[in-house]
Amino acid sequence: MLPRLISVPIILLATSGLFYGAAAGTPPPLVIWHGLGDNYDADGLKSVGDLAKKVNPGTYVYNIRLNEDPSGDRTATFFGDLTVQLAKVCEDLASHPILSTSPSGINALGFSQGGQFLRGYIERCNNPPVRSLVTFGSQHNGVSEFQDCDSDDWMCKTAMGIMKGSVWSSFVQSRLVPAQYFRNPEDLEPYLEYSNFLADINNERETKNKTYAANLASLKMFAMYMFTEDTTAIPKESAWFAEVNRTTGLVTLLQERDIWREDWIGLKKLGEKGRLDFRTAKGKHMKLDDELLTEAFEEYFSPPEDTFDHPGEL
Ligand SMILES: *[C@@H]1O[C@H](CO)[C@@H](O)[C@H](O)[C@H]1NC(C)=O
Ligand SMILES: *[C@@H]1O[C@H](CO)[C@@H](O)[C@H](O)[C@H]1NC(C)=O
Repeated sequence: MLPRLISVPIILLATSGLFYGAAAGTPPPLVIWHGLGDNYDADGLKSVGDLAKKVNPGTYVYNIRLNEDPSGDRTATFFGDLTVQLAKVCEDLASHPILSTSPSGINALGFSQGGQFLRGYIERCNNPPVRSLVTFGSQHNGVSEFQDCDSDDWMCKTAMGIMKGSVWSSFVQSRLVPAQYFRNPEDLEPYLEYSNFLADINNERETKNKTYAANLASLKMFAMYMFTEDTTAIPKESAWFAEVNRTTGLVTLLQERDIWREDWIGLKKLGEKGRLDFRTAKGKHMKLDDELLTEAFEEYFSPPEDTFDHPGEL
């Protein structure tokens, strides 16, 4: 291992000055996008970051935020226009001194809705480029029901109340975050017309954006964890891009859907190269333990073998 570590930068210097200074064995920085009702400064998120550093020493961790004020950041998980929110995140990462200069790109970890938003980042921006994406309990194929809120969470209740009233109005689509990934397979027409985020990011409309597919297909790994007893994000199979018939409960797997067959967003390419993992996490929505996270961090976020293994060359 040691001679290789030493020799790699020398070889790279001879081939391309661009990679100069890229130390082999350094884990890429990790960006984490939290879920609905959470904030970037929360203790739970800090312990996840600490664990990532423990598993892969030297990892720089950045928690994505839409507001430096944690309570404003929490509010932004319920209220806001995802197009605007994503553009801000793209700008923040592209101008971040450490993330934007990492020679091995960055890794990305998305919790719940943060997972489909990170996928949006990859498809629309991907600068700095993501190496591996891991999502836990994300709603990649949307939610077909609105989630229940804690009885004292007025912000959640307000958001869900407004959405239940008129999910397809452009007013709601540009202001309520979960509405922008609402998707009822029995009622696709208004979804295709009005969805401000998911219908676009999943390339479900007639005109497909080829950049989206190319960017997602450039991932080294995309691992999707589904919680086996998830009753919060409905249907739970959305975590695997599956579709569930609301009457019969019949599950249509990703591989049986056009988004895969016609490879609208690059998933089939990833799958055929063995770069798409369908994983399960035992338990309820976002009930994570250190053991499972440790395993995921070892498997997906460990340092590149050498600097040739650069996202741009995959
Ligand atoms: C496709 O997406 C890219 C990245 O967001 C964007 O720059 C481009 O304008 C989009 N192309 C079309 C045809 O919408
Ligand atoms: C769900 O199943 C029912 C009964 O088989 C069928 O009539 C309906 O079209 C299905 N819905 C979708 C969206 O495929």
